[in-house]
Amino acid sequence: MLENDQSPAIDDTTVYLKDYAEPDFSIAKIALDFQLGSNTTVVTADMEFAKTSGHQRALVLDGETFKLLSLKLDGVDMQASDYLVSEKTLRIEQVPDTFKLTVVTELQPHLNTQLSGLYQSSGNFCTQCEAEGFRRITYFLDRPDVLSEYEVSLTADKKTCPVLLSNGNPVACGSNSDGTHWHRWHDPHPKACYLFALVAGDLEKISDEFITMSDKPIALNIYTQAYNIEKCDHAMQSLKNSMAWDQQVYGCEYDLDVYNVVAVDDFNMGAMENKGLNIFNSKYVLANQQTATDTDYQGIESVIGHEYFHNWSGNRVTCRDWFQLSLKEGFTVFRDQEFSADMGSRAVKRIRDVQMLRSHQFKEDAGPMAHPIRPESYQEINNFYTVTIYEKGAEVIRMMHALVGAEGFRKGTDLYFSRYDGQAVTTEDFVQCMEKANDVDLSQFRLWYSQAGTPEVKVEQEFDPNRGLLTLRLQQSCPATPGQTEKLPMQIPIAMALFDQQGAKLEERTLLMTQATQSFDFEDLVNRPTVSLLRNFSAPIKLFFDQSDDDLALLIAHDDNGFTRWEAVQRLSLNLLLPAITEQTNSLDEQSYQRLLTALTALLDNEPEDKAILAEMLKLPNTSYIAEQCSPIDPQQVADVKDQVARRLANDLEEKLISLYTQNSVRLNFSLEAQAMSERMLKNTVLGMLVTTEKAQHYELASNQYRDANNMTDRLAAFAALLHSDYPDKQEIIADFYGVWQNDTLVLDKWFAMQATIPEVAVLASVHSLMEHKSFSIHNPNKVRSLIGAFTANTRAFHRVDGAGYALLADIIIQLNSINPQIGSRLAGTFNNWKAYAEPYSSNMKTQLQRINSIDDLSKDISEIVTKALA
Ligand code: TRP
Ligand code: ZN
Repeated sequence: MLENDQSPAIDDTTVYLKDYAEPDFSIAKIALDFQLGSNTTVVTADMEFAKTSGHQRALVLDGETFKLLSLKLDGVDMQASDYLVSEKTLRIEQVPDTFKLTVVTELQPHLNTQLSGLYQSSGNFCTQCEAEGFRRITYFLDRPDVLSEYEVSLTADKKTCPVLLSNGNPVACGSNSDGTHWHRWHDPHPKACYLFALVAGDLEKISDEFITMSDKPIALNIYTQAYNIEKCDHAMQSLKNSMAWDQQVYGCEYDLDVYNVVAVDDFNMGAMENKGLNIFNSKYVLANQQTATDTDYQGIESVIGHEYFHNWSGNRVTCRDWFQLSLKEGFTVFRDQEFSADMGSRAVKRIRDVQMLRSHQFKEDAGPMAHPIRPESYQEINNFYTVTIYEKGAEVIRMMHALVGAEGFRKGTDLYFSRYDGQAVTTEDFVQCMEKANDVDLSQFRLWYSQAGTPEVKVEQEFDPNRGLLTLRLQQSCPATPGQTEKLPMQIPIAMALFDQQGAKLEERTLLMTQATQSFDFEDLVNRPTVSLLRNFSAPIKLFFDQSDDDLALLIAHDDNGFTRWEAVQRLSLNLLLPAITEQTNSLDEQSYQRLLTALTALLDNEPEDKAILAEMLKLPNTSYIAEQCSPIDPQQVADVKDQVARRLANDLEEKLISLYTQNSVRLNFSLEAQAMSERMLKNTVLGMLVTTEKAQHYELASNQYRDANNMTDRLAAFAALLHSDYPDKQEIIADFYGVWQNDTLVLDKWFAMQATIPEVAVLASVHSLMEHKSFSIHNPNKVRSLIGAFTANTRAFHRVDGAGYALLADIIIQLNSINPQIGSRLAGTFNNWKAYAEPYSSNMKTQLQRINSIDDLSKDISEIVTKALA
């Protein structure tokens, strides 16, 4: 076996997978009582403990940030001398084999700005306990392998908190003479405390019903503030679709009487799968034609699906420890991706997922935070909810799905769900189920769980016309990552096909790489065929395959795999862009440009049926994906070259684009059907291209569309096109947009983001002043993401040569350190790849990292990111 040099910095905050030990105690039952007051909440936790073996070890519970009011052991008050309270633990030296512990704590939810534990959002109470928020509510064994049955009672003022929710099924309720009321909930399924949730507040709901495959009716409710109640229908429809899909594809049925979803405005992530009580960032619930874009609608469908699918992949079967996070997240992302693919266009979904993986996950895998999908250590678990755990984790599941086939995969998941129901398990347990159910050996495949870094596969082809023989020579390698210098060859499935010169498919199969170098022969060929390689992006790798521009053109015209077809345009574009960027000349190779233009012209002439794919094919590669392939990165240079190509293409294709725009603008009635969405997608992509010509005629097209649109997709696309061009009257439409939408916080997020992404150095000043805007709040994660997060993606303004963009980001990270370190830490990750940049960018970023690192009381979240980046 390979000896990896695991040499993380020695410090007491690092947690290691190798140190995992089973818990010393179990907690079979917990009864929680919440007295929710306007400034303080009192929590009584009654817990049934038992030693898990005949040991004499102390009881050590996690707990922080609250005030301990009292402690009872088997009903007897404990004296201060009977236990030891430290900043993060409660320690009782000697306890009986089984006992009851009653802990009373006092919390101040209205002061909780971290949005972890019990907090308030728009005045309503809610919780977020994953990963380690439950310890901010009471003393507990806050780890996912302690599963307990919960009974929860909530008492609050009847007027301000008419709705009182927790996990499971409602069991009783009543009123008190002091104007308060109470509700009691019981969850029969033992669960980890990270899945605990409560919601209390003044909310309205929409209700529906789902009849399960065994004819059980489930009450479905979506809760939100009264003024948003009209915006819940799409989420409800998505929920019903998810429930039906999971029954059909995985045989998984829902297991409680009710399924509640609550939308809150202040939320660190997308949503949370708490058993029977999902809590959602309102961005992933609320939508109507006027306020939500097609992307928003699709986001809602996928996140509703994701959280619903966790009911089995996460809740019924959970993780033994947080190193196993991808067990639930990778698998659940794979499930939601397939759900969305089945609901809409499979090819477009795949293209977008791959774009996301390549522009974010590949970057992570190439930087100081690179980790395998099953990490070996972490300092702050919140920092490991990463694109690697989620998206690369999903790719690894997808490869297993491909290796054993859909039916075999289902056999594997059936075994997994039945064998481990009600348990906390490991990724290894999942892989073993796949092996057992399919009688396959996945030993080498397991490296995908333990090796970090993006594998690189170089391919050479040779054709012998005399023998009609094509040989493909493949060579794999994987770059070193922090703590892992040596890498072993991995099992890499490479789906491929051969096309003849007329574009007819000759052969299709999957090449399974298992060695560092391997050759594959294809015989009986009359002419040299065109190879379509890595179809459907069958493995999360970087493929290096020099194909002629003619081959790429043939694939663009004839490949029947949506992904490789789209990819051929991307490669043709990169063949033009990268030399101009890296040779620092800015000048385009004329032949190379003409080839891209010819291919796009042909594409527009033979318009593919799928308009959404056509739209994707018209877009140049993402700036971050281009940048990733430059060494060192000069961000301004990347933007200069990309802008130049975009502008030239728009001018050269102008007539065809205009007619495409017109053809796709005829629909009168708004519809969310796939065809209608694809039309909007194509039309708006084309509009974005047209305005880059800076012609008054096209500005007018966009401003008319902005004014006349009957939906947010079209309105926002026109708004974006104008803001991101040289349109002279930007301030006017910015003011107009605000005037119309000033009371809709989710739409204002778009307004902030669009201004933050205007490609001008001067945007720095607007970001400064927008931070002072009355509609902005640094306490609201969505606002931070839309203004600051979007700003970091603005190459022109963020990567200013004078470093002022970086300094602004550092200022904000420092502010967030004491308000919401989870959000601060996400932003700090923007600097992760500073070493990949050219000067002065690199040094300027380093200066800011050092500045952040030097502040007092740096949170564990931000410090882990910054120290690893500087190492
Ligand atoms: N488990 C959640 C999901 O579905 C992730 C999540 C939601 C989360 N909120 C969080 C993780 C807060 C950490 C902190 O993916
Ligand atoms: Zn998840």
